[in-house]
Formats: sequence, C-alpha cells, structure tokens
Amino acid sequence: MCRYSKSFAAFVFQIAVCTTCAFAQQSYTLPDVLTMSNGKKVTTAKQWFNQRRPELLSLFKKEMYGQSPASPANMSFRVFDEDKKALNGEAIRKQITVYFTGKADGPQMDILLYIPNNVKKAVPAIVGLNFDGNHAVNADPGIKLSASWFDKGKNVVNNRATEAMRGTNASQWPLETIIGRGYAVVTVYRGDIAPDHDHNLNEGVFPLYPELQNRPDNFATVSAWAWGLSRILDYLETDKAIDSKHVAVFGFSRLGKAALWAGATDSRFALVISNESGAGGAKLFHETAGEGIRRLSTKFPFWFCDNFKKYTDQDSVLPFDQHMVISLVAPRPIYIASAEGDLNSNPKGEFMGALAASPVYKLLGTKGLPALTMPPVNTPIIGRIAYHIRTGTHNVTDFDWAQYLNFADQYLKTPAKP
Ligand code: GCU
Repeated sequence: MCRYSKSFAAFVFQIAVCTTCAFAQQSYTLPDVLTMSNGKKVTTAKQWFNQRRPELLSLFKKEMYGQSPASPANMSFRVFDEDKKALNGEAIRKQITVYFTGKADGPQMDILLYIPNNVKKAVPAIVGLNFDGNHAVNADPGIKLSASWFDKGKNVVNNRATEAMRGTNASQWPLETIIGRGYAVVTVYRGDIAPDHDHNLNEGVFPLYPELQNRPDNFATVSAWAWGLSRILDYLETDKAIDSKHVAVFGFSRLGKAALWAGATDSRFALVISNESGAGGAKLFHETAGEGIRRLSTKFPFWFCDNFKKYTDQDSVLPFDQHMVISLVAPRPIYIASAEGDLNSNPKGEFMGALAASPVYKLLGTKGLPALTMPPVNTPIIGRIAYHIRTGTHNVTDFDWAQYLNFADQYLKTPAKP
C-alpha cells in the first residue's frame, strides 16, 4: 500500500512522492483549508461558518474570481413562451426573459426551462449554462434562436446563430432522460451574460456595474457566469412548478468553473456538479500537469480578475488552492468528474481537489470523499463529495449524466444522507 494513504492528514498537508504507485508523483505542501490566516486551527463547525468560510470567500473574491454584485434591484421576468406539450408531451417548455434593469432595452438573458409533465408537486431542478445557445440543446423548433453574440464556429454567420445550429449540442443535454427522472432542466446561453472574449466590458452584464471594473479585483467573466446562475435561481424561486430548495447547479469545463463558483458563493444551490472543470475549477494548481495559471492568464485573461495574473508561474507555491473553493460548498453535496483523456483538465488534479476538501466535509459531520486514492475508470466513488473518472475525452456523456442523476436522487430527492 502507498505509505501516504495511511494518513489522510499526510495527503492534505504534505503530498509527497510515492515510488510505488502513480497516485502522488509530485511533492508540494498544500495550504491547509482548516487553518486561519492568523495560524489558528479551525476545529468546530461554528468556527468554519463564522470565521474561516468568510475569510476564504473574501480571499477568492479578491485574488482570483473578482467581486460580484448582489441581485439587481429592479430585475424583472417576462415569460414569453409556454408549451404544455413540449418534447412529445413529456414536458412543459417555458422561456423567460430576465431584464436585469427591469427594462426591455437593457442587458437581459433568456432562460429555457423544461418541467416534467403530469407531476403534481413542485419538482427539483438542474440548472446550467450552455456553450452554443439555448437553441442548440435540443432540436425543439419552439426554442427561441438566440440573438446574442457567438464566436466564429460551424453554422455561425457574422457572429450570430443560425437555424442550422438547432439541436447541435443535444448529446450533452439529454433532456428527455433528465426530465424522465423527475427533474426540471434550466439553461441559459453563457453569451447572454458575458460573451466569451476579451474587451467585453461594454457587453453582457458588465455595463451595469462600472464600479466593478478597472480595479484589481474586477468582476470578471467566470464570476459573471456564476452571477448569472444565481439570477436564474432568483427566477426559479418565483416559479411555483419548481422546488427551489432543491436546485442543482451543473457546468462543464469553463462553465464547470462557473458552476463551482456559483455553488461556493450561493448557498441556495443545494447540490453542485462540476464536470471536467480543470484549472480554475476543481483541479489543484499545485498539481501542475495540464493547464496552469500562465495559460489561463494569457489565453483567457478575462476569465479571472486582474489580481490573479500576479500568480502566473506560482502554481506549485500558491498560498491558496481550489480545494478551498470546493470546501465553500460544504456540507452540500458536490460531484466532481474527470475524463481519462482530458489531460488539459488533469484528472488527478481534480481528484486531489476533491480529496483535499474532504476534511471540511468531515468537520461538518458528513462522509466527504470516501476514498484516498483515485478509483479505476468508470467506477464512481459516492460520498457527500463524489468523484469519477470515465474513459474518453473532454465531454459530457450519458455515463456522466447517469451518475449525476443517481447522485441527485440520493441527495436532492430523499432526505439527504451524511
Ligand atoms: C480550454 C481551456 C479550459 C476550459 C476549456 C473549455 O481547453 O483551456 O480551461 O475548461 O477550454 O471550456 O472547454
């Protein structure tokens, strides 16, 4: 047996070289999630919630994700579409425009919502942003074709969506399966909130908050996406068909980074699913393989706040790391998933992020991640923190969804287990 797997503390505080297994190939000291910046140890739930958690939240807002505003005072919702027989009668489709200033000519986003049909009581929901527009998650011709900005790509003409994009992302959004399991599905195009390119401060929701720009802890893109996820939840709280106390936030890749930050900052999300979120998501920067801070800061300099750039090339000595972000979700359930071929995200780094967050879950009386070493492929480990690494590459597959739905059944539908 790997000698480091004998002691959990050894993993968390000092990950060292193991010569007999592939588990720990790097030597680094991970900042301890349960030690305050003044050196005091956190030993009670009260200390965690009253002192350490707020300390970590403000650290990550200042150094990495940037500040984000509260819900806009005059925000309003307009349900502009309702079809009671969508998806062959399986679902009710609703589309809602959120006017962030309460005005139709200001920044806005379109929510696409499918609610399982013939269900008498309010249903739990899974909320996530999409990459390619609401119209791409299903071929349903009733979905509004987005008028937002799109990066150049197949069937995008002059940075606008076209009819040919309908349903092109459906394999990652198995609506019928999710709805069949009793969950509403709720999605918004990421570009409605913040277009995924630089110099975007006059687009999306950024013009609403000029005071959060031109500062080192500026409101940045990942944070804006997370903020948008919270605004979707604001709407869901007004919709009687939704059990808004049982809403999971889901995201894949860059949108998995946003889902994790949304779960960390907004405790109303009852469960978090971070699918292959990689660097700036669940992956530990101290696990330096794959994408690091240099690539994030140069290729996607607008995703995180300007302060974060000063940590370029500091990955292995960073004074904070992503296990602390995962811990901010505790004790709510979180599923972190990797794919064997997704080396940019670094599966081992994602697993280690989950593992190193576990002490907080345990402090709060839950199981945390019930493993010390990475599981074989396609073999989920399920605790309050769940993890799997599946075969294949960077994607969201039916295998992933099958695990997420089982996890949601276990923790969202029935009384939550420790
Ligand atoms: C790039 C980027 C990742 C990101 C991914 C995605 O590969 O390096 O950080 O997660 O895009 O969003 O698909």
